[in-house]
Amino acid sequence: MCGIFGQIAAGAVSNTVKALKYLEYRGYDSAGLALRRGDCLEMYKTEGRIATLERIVDGIDEATVAIGHTRWATHGAVSTANAHPFLSEDGNFAIVHNGIIENYRELKALLPQVKFTSQTDSETVAHLLRQNYRGDVLQTVLTTARMLKGSFAIAVLSVYGDKLYAVRNKSPLVVGFSSNGAYLCSDIRCISHWATSVAVAPDNAVAEIGKNGAKFFRLDGTPVDVKFFAPPRAEETESFEGDFMLKEIFEIPAKLRQAKRNYVERGGLSLDADTVRRLKRIYLIGCGTAYHSGLAVAAVARKFIDADVIPVVASEFIYDNYPVDGDTLAFLISQSGETADTVRAAERVTESGGLTYAVTNTDSSSLTFKCDNCVNICADGEFAVASTKAYNCQIAVLTMLFADIALLRGTLSAKKHNAIFREIDGLPFAVEQILDESYRIAQLAEEVAHSSAVFFIGRTTDYPTACEGSLKLKEISYIHSEAYPAGELKHGTLALMERSVTVVAISTDPALRDKMISSVNEVTSRGARVIAFAPYAMEGVDTFELPPTGELLYAATACVPLQLLAYYAAKSLGRDVDKPRHLAKSVTVE
Ligand code: M6R
Repeated sequence: MCGIFGQIAAGAVSNTVKALKYLEYRGYDSAGLALRRGDCLEMYKTEGRIATLERIVDGIDEATVAIGHTRWATHGAVSTANAHPFLSEDGNFAIVHNGIIENYRELKALLPQVKFTSQTDSETVAHLLRQNYRGDVLQTVLTTARMLKGSFAIAVLSVYGDKLYAVRNKSPLVVGFSSNGAYLCSDIRCISHWATSVAVAPDNAVAEIGKNGAKFFRLDGTPVDVKFFAPPRAEETESFEGDFMLKEIFEIPAKLRQAKRNYVERGGLSLDADTVRRLKRIYLIGCGTAYHSGLAVAAVARKFIDADVIPVVASEFIYDNYPVDGDTLAFLISQSGETADTVRAAERVTESGGLTYAVTNTDSSSLTFKCDNCVNICADGEFAVASTKAYNCQIAVLTMLFADIALLRGTLSAKKHNAIFREIDGLPFAVEQILDESYRIAQLAEEVAHSSAVFFIGRTTDYPTACEGSLKLKEISYIHSEAYPAGELKHGTLALMERSVTVVAISTDPALRDKMISSVNEVTSRGARVIAFAPYAMEGVDTFELPPTGELLYAATACVPLQLLAYYAAKSLGRDVDKPRHLAKSVTVE
C-alpha cells in the first residue's frame, strides 16, 4: 500500500529513489517525488515502476530536500495524473499521502476556484494548504490537519523555509535522524537505512522537521513529547536477484529456530497467573495469512484449553458484536504490525476493557504501540507480497503461547507442555525434508497451473492449511481457487467437479484418514484430479508424503509444500510472484 519518504540531507533525489525501491514490496502502481531547487518546487511522477521514475530524475541530485511516494490506487485509476506528489496551484506546497481522506468531497466544495488535476482524495490537501497559508507554515499545516477526517500520513514540502512537515492519523509514520540529516517514512525498516535514531509520530499530531531535530504538536498546537530509539536493523534487498518468495520459503527452518529461541529467552507468555486463570475467552484476530495462522492454532488449542478460543477476521471483528470484557484476551496477529483492520480491532478490544497481545514480526509498529503486550515472531523481513515464513513462525509462537496458558490454567500437564515445546524443536527438520523435495512440488505445480480451478480440502486442523494453500495460489497465480472443509463438498461444490479441476487434499489426522479417503473418492469419481499431502500414501492419487510432525503442529509444516506449489504454478504461468497484481504487502487502510 502507499509508501512515503522524505528527507533533508545531501543526495535527496538518489536517496528518495532508493527508499521508494525499498518500499516497492508494499505493492504500488505509480511513483513520484517532489524536491526543492532554489525557491521552486519541482515534481516528477509516473505510472508504473520506480525504474521509470529513476530514469526521469537521472542527473538531478543537487537537491537536499525531497519527498517521495509509491501509490497503490484507492481513489481514481492508475495514471500519472493520479500519482503523487500533488502541488498547490501556486506551486508553493507539495504533498504525498498514505491513507484515505474520508471527507475529501466536502473539502473540495470549499475550493470552488481550484482546477483539480486528479481524481484523488489526496490532491485536496495541497490546495487546502495554499488556501490556509497566512505566513506561518506550521500553523498552516495544523489548520489543514484539523480539517481532515480519515486515516493519513502526509508529508509536506513548501517553498517557505527548509523544513519538512508531517501529519499523522492512524497510517504509519516514523521520523528519524542521523549525523547527515533528517528523514520521515512509512516504514521503520526502510528509514533505518539512513536514520540511527527514530520516533514513531503520535496519532493526531503534526511534526515540524528540521535538519537537526523535530518538534511534535497535537492538532491544537500544544507540544507533545515523543521517545526516540535505535531502529531495528534494515535488511539489504537491493543486491538480491531472484524471487524473494522462494528465498523466504527456504528461510523457514532458520526462522522457526529463531522464533523458538526468542520466545524462550523472553520468558514465554509473560502474563500473570491470576489474569490467565480468569480468562473466559481468547480471540485470535488477523487478516489473510495472519488470520489463517489464528484459525490453525485455534483448531489445536481447543484440544487443551478450557476457555473459548475464537479466531476472527479483523475487519469482521471491528463491526460485529463479539463480546469483550475484563475476562477477554485478544491475540492480534500481523506480520507487518501495520494492517489497519487489525490495529482497529485492537482498539475495539481495549475500549471494551479486554487485554490485547500483539503477535507481530515488527517491533515498534502501530500494533505493538496499541497493545498491552507483544511478542516478536522473529521471521525477519518479508519482501514478497505473499506471506510465507511469517505464517510458520506465527503458528509456532501462538502454539507456545497457548501451551503456556494451558499450563497456568492446569489444563495441560508439565509433561505434555514439554512435549509440545520439543515438537517445536522438530519443525525445522521436517521443513528441511520438504524443501529437499521441492523439485517434486515443481512437477505437481505444472498440472495445477493448467487447471480451470483448484479446490483445497481438509478437515478440522487441516482446514486452515487448505485456506492458506488456496490464498497463496490465488494471490500469485490468479487461478481461481477455494478452500473447503472436505465434508462440506457434497453440500453444493461437488457440482463443479470435472476433468479440468484439481483438488488438493490435506490429510494429517490419522483419526480422519478414512473420511478424507471418502472425500477424495467423491471428487475423483466425478473426473477431478487429486493431489494429496499426507504423512501416508493415499491410494490411487498422487501423494506428497509429509514428514511426521507432532499431531498438534502439522499446520506449521503442511503449508510449506502448498507455498511451493503456489510459487511454481505462478512461475509456470509467468506471473510476477513477488509483486502480484492489485495487491499490497501492508494494507494500511480499512
Ligand atoms: O501484515 P499482516 O500480517 O497484518 O497482513 C495481513 C494480510 O494482509 C496478509 O497476510 C495477506 O493476506 C498476504 N498477502 C497473504 O499472503
